[in-house]
Amino acid sequence: MSLPLLQAQSGDNPFRDEPGRSFTMPSRFYLDPEIYEREKDAIFYRSWWFAGHKSQLDKPGRFITTQIHEQSIVITRTTDGALNAFYNVCQHRGHELVSGSGSARLLVCPYHAWSYDLDGKLRNAPNTADMVDFDKCAFSLKSVQVEEFCGFVFVNLDPDALPFREQAGDLEAELRHYCPSIDNMVYAHRHSYDVASNWKVLIDNFLECYHCGVAHKDFVNLVDMKTYQSQTCGIYSSHTSQGASVNSSAFKFEKGDVEFGYAAWFVWPNLTIWVYPGEANVSALQIIPSGPDRTIEHLDWFLPTSEPTKQLKDAMVYMDEVLQPEDIGLCESVQRGLRSKGYNQGRFVIDNDLSELSEHAVHHFQKMVVDALDARLG
Ligand code: FES
Ligand SMILES: [Fe+2]
Repeated sequence: MSLPLLQAQSGDNPFRDEPGRSFTMPSRFYLDPEIYEREKDAIFYRSWWFAGHKSQLDKPGRFITTQIHEQSIVITRTTDGALNAFYNVCQHRGHELVSGSGSARLLVCPYHAWSYDLDGKLRNAPNTADMVDFDKCAFSLKSVQVEEFCGFVFVNLDPDALPFREQAGDLEAELRHYCPSIDNMVYAHRHSYDVASNWKVLIDNFLECYHCGVAHKDFVNLVDMKTYQSQTCGIYSSHTSQGASVNSSAFKFEKGDVEFGYAAWFVWPNLTIWVYPGEANVSALQIIPSGPDRTIEHLDWFLPTSEPTKQLKDAMVYMDEVLQPEDIGLCESVQRGLRSKGYNQGRFVIDNDLSELSEHAVHHFQKMVVDALDARLG
């Protein structure tokens, strides 16, 4: 049954399939706790979720954890090299099994010491030898889908979800084009941000460069805006420019591995991937809802070595100290504005050429949200 909030309300304007004729999603989609709750099952518990990088699971016994709303997931590398993912919960009385990341031969529950092999089988349960009808095989960890894609590790709680690679279409070819050495990247650094806005405000903001000339003077100095283009394609959109200035106010670089300019992608529902010009690099900015008006962002850098060179450090500092604060300031202001009684919806600004200023990729994302929630707004 649909929530009344997901139906058109009096005063709403239509959200349409055609971007140029559509209003944006009503404000309540960014504010209402019931819609926030609905997104968990409708979006996050059935979509591929970025969980980490293969370089964090490079040896047998390594494990990492990730949190998808209330669902904690552990990902392990077994001795035969296989990748496994499980709900991070002990099958005895439900204690969380492990936290953070690490290396272990067995996953041992801190409560009563049930221990599990890295492939999820219950290995030992103390004091159970006398028990009748107790079959250890029935108490394996509950597995979830896991997939490695260009070194990134994704999990999906929906057992029926199509493989990420299948859903992602040409994304792999595009990533390899812009970052040919992507298979050799290793995890280097994480920056985190606690943002006072709904997660979708941050995604909307990523998806258009209408604001770049106004709000990002160093970014428009770095990339060739005349060739900046957004293209939407299934579960992702790409945002590229075919040139970049080596001497920009953002950071300086010698023409290197990434000579073409700049590329970034949005991957449904909450991941953005970036390749900056200069020496080989790729970064993942994951936008993690932590409340209707609160979001945690993790920005993870993957580089040829875990210690960045001077040039890569400059790019990282630009992103952390300039671009991210600029965008976060915009998004927190939008969140405050969405609470105003003086605003409910705007229009997507679309031009015929789908130029660097066009907001078609924002509509592409919002339509995915509307469809996933089965909202009737039109
Ligand atoms: S809850 Fe894990 S061993 Fe008891
Ligand atoms: Fe921005």
